[in-house]
Amino acid sequence: MHICETISATRQAILQARQAGKKIGFVPTMGALHAGHAILMRRAKTECDYVVVSIFVNPTQFGPNEDFARYPRTFEADQALCAAVGVDVIFYPTPELMYPKGYQTFVEVTEITKPLCGASRPGHFRGVATVVTKLFNIVMPDVAYFGQKDAQQCRVIQQMVADLNMPIQIEIVETVREPDGLAMSSRNRYLNPLQRHHATILYRTLVWVKEQIAAGQRNAHELEKQMALRIEQTPEARLDYAKILDYETFSPVETIEKKVLVALAVFFDQTRLIDNFLIDV
Ligand code: PAF
Repeated sequence: MHICETISATRQAILQARQAGKKIGFVPTMGALHAGHAILMRRAKTECDYVVVSIFVNPTQFGPNEDFARYPRTFEADQALCAAVGVDVIFYPTPELMYPKGYQTFVEVTEITKPLCGASRPGHFRGVATVVTKLFNIVMPDVAYFGQKDAQQCRVIQQMVADLNMPIQIEIVETVREPDGLAMSSRNRYLNPLQRHHATILYRTLVWVKEQIAAGQRNAHELEKQMALRIEQTPEARLDYAKILDYETFSPVETIEKKVLVALAVFFDQTRLIDNFLIDV
């Protein structure tokens, strides 16, 4: 496994694979890898001949009062997981390499970044779209893998790839969960035992909404109200949003008639967790 800290070394390693006719799979990450990342990497390993993982805590996608400084950095453990899965290259740049002095170019996806995390975290998706574009330009993968837990990020990347004619196949991989339903996230490690206990409210609320829809409930506003109530009644939890949106347009729905995204963001102290279900009636 190559660990590449420069763009030229990364390109060089991948070029050899590409020239040998290998299909390049790419898993962009911010490190602090967990079982969810392992599933993405294994998917890439199964479907591609050569797998590249990037590990980069991207400063431009964090707001000024967010957790950039304390975001977990666990490179040694990450490296061991990548090696165990059989990753070929880890691209491990510094912020200075990715955003050198004088850097001034950003990528912005407009409409679908407005609600949900885009509303709560201004500038977040601009940072994500920018860094993913840069990573795509460096790695030039055939296929890139993202987790469904970040549903809005997935839609943003799909939109960006389509709009900017990037010749990359985007694969969305189902959310991986702890046995009690909590979606795997690098941020789960911030939770103290009591918060961790109550954090299953996200999954339990999504399951409840799914059951309500299956039983015939179609009133999205009523469901959103009930979702918010469930979160507000949970000790330690503070609601950021509870929304039901049209999955294609990310616009609000009144009556649930087609594929919807049911999405939640909840704070436990400073830790913000997100989760979602895609429900097709
Ligand atoms: O999902 C993440 O870990 C990040 O948003 C990504 C896609 C690696 C961009 O920094």
